[in-house]
Amino acid sequence: MTQFDPTTPAAPAAAPEEASGAAILVVDDEPDLCRALGKLLGRNGFAVVTAGNGEEALQILRRQEIHLVLSDLQMPRMGGLDLLKAAQIISPTTEFVIITGHGSIETAVDAMKSGAYDFIEKPFSTSTTLKVVRKALEKQNLLTENRRLRRKLDELQGTADIIGRSEPMRRAVAVAQQAAPSSATILITGESGTGKEVFASAIHRWSDRARRNMVTVSCAALPETLLEAELFGYEKGAFTGAVARRKGRFELADRGTLFLDEVGEMSPATQVKLLRVLQEGTLERLGGGETVNVDVRIIAATNTDLPALVAAGRFREDLYYRLNVINLELPPLRRRGDDVTLLADFFLARYNAKNGKHLTGFTPTALEALGRYGWPGNVRELENAVERAVVLCRQPQVDLDALPPNVLAGRARLEQVVIPVGTTLRDAEMDLIQATLDSTGGDKEMAARILGIAARTIYRRLQ
Ligand SMILES: Nc1ncnc2c1ncn2[C@@H]1O[C@H](COP(=O)(O)OP(=O)(O)OP(=O)(O)O)[C@@H](O)[C@H]1O
Ligand SMILES: [Mg+2]
Repeated sequence: MTQFDPTTPAAPAAAPEEASGAAILVVDDEPDLCRALGKLLGRNGFAVVTAGNGEEALQILRRQEIHLVLSDLQMPRMGGLDLLKAAQIISPTTEFVIITGHGSIETAVDAMKSGAYDFIEKPFSTSTTLKVVRKALEKQNLLTENRRLRRKLDELQGTADIIGRSEPMRRAVAVAQQAAPSSATILITGESGTGKEVFASAIHRWSDRARRNMVTVSCAALPETLLEAELFGYEKGAFTGAVARRKGRFELADRGTLFLDEVGEMSPATQVKLLRVLQEGTLERLGGGETVNVDVRIIAATNTDLPALVAAGRFREDLYYRLNVINLELPPLRRRGDDVTLLADFFLARYNAKNGKHLTGFTPTALEALGRYGWPGNVRELENAVERAVVLCRQPQVDLDALPPNVLAGRARLEQVVIPVGTTLRDAEMDLIQATLDSTGGDKEMAARILGIAARTIYRRLQ
């Protein structure tokens, strides 16, 4: 059984042994200021990189491990606040300190609300700057260590339960791990049974909110008024039957994670209320005037095409953008190659144990049938098929006769490429080329025609 080692891909910035040696990125459009700050920090034992604008800073964040960004607030094109937001997605474990000019305290406060650790006012003193930098790095260090220990615990307890080592799954896990430490809202999309709930709990466990609750609400299971009562809670007398005040799931998830499952099913009225809570971070219980502050990380999931619902006027566009800050698209099982075998073995062990059986594996023909089938119900369907096989099977190995009839009938594979947010254009291009080559059985001329490019472009890319 192969479990995904959550520490391998995209490992978050490792904690420097002590503040000195930490990598600091200084971003300012005034070269003099960059140089001065760089000198000061360099003299004090930090490894300094400088960037003259936001785009350049993002490039650096993508490429190398940065523990702290010191960024000017007002820069042409991409300001410090926008850089902060993008950095949280690209490199969520990096700390951020804003440099503000005279009289822009309000924006600096906004930056801190968005997750910056602190701000320094221009013109700044050497001692204040060093003090703020050291404290920010100390916090970064503690958080990283905390996360590392929790992940270790996770492994020891064997709860790292995301099985898969195909390329699309590695990428999904990498996005999830990168996104986990921040409080950014995540929208998990993917067909039914692809593991959206599995990923939601993993993200919660990998986040700094792991000690608090992850509270789940299925938006499809409840009619509108009940859903609102569940989400926001109610005061005594809010409606018939409300005999006492009750906290909603939002409040129960305070400082933790709220998992909004099947969010596409939410009624327009509830969408408006949800949007308000997301924008303001406060809510009012049904029938109540009191304003309650909530600090909740939202993970939403859907197997419906939300942009299509938006286009049809059934889902609010503003809410969609609020939820879709980070998109985690889970690949369908038919795009995960050999993961089918890994998962089948994993479920075989699980259902052997549950049923007191000792099946040793699958026959080659059974494995081939599992690999050829299209799995429209994805991992859940595979799990059900293996459970059924374990119960039915009378030989030591699972053979064709124990597999469900539809699996035996086989299905054509659908071809698609999954490109998660955070992929560079270059990588996305490579994936598309690779997938097209797979579908042409390696025929480069044919692949080039399908892609509308010259065959030599493919040869060059493959080198
Ligand atoms: N990568 C995985 N490794 C191990 N088990 C998995 C994996 N992905 C999914 N599963 C299992 O498959 C089943 C379905 O997963 P889950 O409920 O998370 O899917 P979902 O995407 O939320 O489905 P739906 O859209 O129907 O709600 C669960 O039993 C889950 O434990
Ligand atoms: Mg689900």
